[in-house]
Amino acid sequence: MTSKQITRALTGAGWHVHDVMDIMLDHLPVREGESQIIHESETSDNIISVRNVSKSYGPKIIALDNISLGVKRGSITALLGPNGAGKTTLIRLMTTLLVPDSGAIRVAGYDTVRQAQKLRGAIGLAGQYVAVDETLTGQENLEMVGRLYHLSPSESATRAKGLLLKFDLQDAADRPVKTYSGGMRRRLDLAASLIARPAVLFLDEPTAGLDPRSRFMLWQTIRELVEQGTTVLLTTQYMEEADQLAHHIIVIDHGHIIAQGTADELKRQVGGDILELHVSERDKAHQIAALVSKYGISEPRVNKETGVITVPVEGGASILVDVIRDADAEDLKLLDIVLRRPSLDDVFLKLTGHTAI
Ligand SMILES: Nc1ncnc2c1ncn2[C@@H]1O[C@H](COP(=O)(O)OP(=O)(O)O)[C@@H](O)[C@H]1O
Ligand SMILES: [Mg+2]
Repeated sequence: MTSKQITRALTGAGWHVHDVMDIMLDHLPVREGESQIIHESETSDNIISVRNVSKSYGPKIIALDNISLGVKRGSITALLGPNGAGKTTLIRLMTTLLVPDSGAIRVAGYDTVRQAQKLRGAIGLAGQYVAVDETLTGQENLEMVGRLYHLSPSESATRAKGLLLKFDLQDAADRPVKTYSGGMRRRLDLAASLIARPAVLFLDEPTAGLDPRSRFMLWQTIRELVEQGTTVLLTTQYMEEADQLAHHIIVIDHGHIIAQGTADELKRQVGGDILELHVSERDKAHQIAALVSKYGISEPRVNKETGVITVPVEGGASILVDVIRDADAEDLKLLDIVLRRPSLDDVFLKLTGHTAI
């Protein structure tokens, strides 16, 4: 029986959740040194090190192909990549939920395979899918997680309250989770992963499907945790999220790391500026692309959905005048023409030849 099933059975039988929790806590093995949230056992600069790790699902699907990376202690690092890139697989390997086919991973000083149990005591994880107990209220769920991480009852309660407020769940705090909407569950799951201030916090696509306000609150909470010494590794498909939040970005596609650095370093790889053209007639987009190709330092791209043409250019604003003149001469109408700094989307496009989402 899992602790969840036990809790559900006993609370269903009329027990109060606190009594259930107390019994469970009495029977939890408290391991020496693991009740402390921040571990100092990793001495190097990197609190996570991944060395030559590969992972396949069956003979055909190579999810990760010889990946190596380091995550600096105290940083926010983003694994950025489209669906199927291998992000969740990497998070599951780093959090001991999967075993690598080859290579080795250390987190907070522990090997993910040989010291899995100790490692779990040092980390927090919010998975891509929500894991909260339906029968307990929001407050109870958070308190239980706090107690399981060896926070005192009063600290668990205080932190639970604070996090419920942060994620706009205070009005629903005393309602069972089964009455929560999908978005509320997601926020509660995130709050649960934040309760214990672990040494390393893993967040798998934490803001997928969140409303802008909750996304902002989560970013704030992540920054606060990092200020207090937690290292955060998160995955995201959102360029903007990586750009705003992460100190270090690791771009991953098809199981390979294709680039890494700060947002600025990555953008500098594109070079120059991006000329962006919006057309009123979609079917003319390719004609315009051909027209501007002579100004580009690489080939122009046409976004099939939006009809927007982008091309990296050098030489500044005078290009705008030239392009407008050329378009006029061929009687092609432009709705808008912009010269802007490269975004991470442009980086991704340049590196992979396709857009991230
Ligand atoms: N349990 C599984 N069984 C088979 N294939 C899987 C499984 N989990 C993931 N995959 C495949 O592995 C690749 C990487 O998936 P995943 O790590 O979930 O990527 P991401 O999180 O970046 O979307 C994808 O091709 C996916 O279809
Ligand atoms: Mg995933």
